[in-house]
Amino acid sequence: MNRSEQHLVLVGMMGVGKSTIGRALADRLDREMIDSDSIIEARTGRTVREIFADDGEPAFRALESDVLLEALSAPHPLVIAAAGGVVLSATNRAALCRPNARVVWLCADPATLLERVRHGVHRPLLDDDPAGTLQRMFVEREGLYREVADTIVLVDHRSVGEVVEAVLR
Ligand code: S3P
Repeated sequence: MNRSEQHLVLVGMMGVGKSTIGRALADRLDREMIDSDSIIEARTGRTVREIFADDGEPAFRALESDVLLEALSAPHPLVIAAAGGVVLSATNRAALCRPNARVVWLCADPATLLERVRHGVHRPLLDDDPAGTLQRMFVEREGLYREVADTIVLVDHRSVGEVVEAVLR
């Protein structure tokens, strides 16, 4: 399938910049951008933090999966900033490996991620020991991101514009 017909999906760890890079890519490609966490919050009328606290992580993961699978079935090509955890589900990974999606893994060192996650409030999993948790998650998920990725783009020490160029190359 031609790149211009494929969804462009950004995957990667919390804090890597999927939403920011996704918005820039959507502007550049003149496409609609789907941001998983924002859609979940708009749809449920609750914050990610509230969903984790009230319903638990499995309920959040189900919503995350619904948003991803719906976006991937859209008839026009989108930019999709997938939630960090989408790769934990085998169903999601299978959907990401279909030919209608080009998946880009935005990859950063856990130290870079730690610096960047200070600002967000939607990451309850990082409330205790963010450094240790990010490191552990990186080890758990690295192979899963690699499994679904068509392209890997390193973001450490790169500006938004540089990352956008690398994704489009
Ligand atoms: C999560 C990532 C967060 C959010 C939730 C869980 C994860 O989104 O969905 O806190 O498990 O990686 P970002 O990837 O936008 O930070």
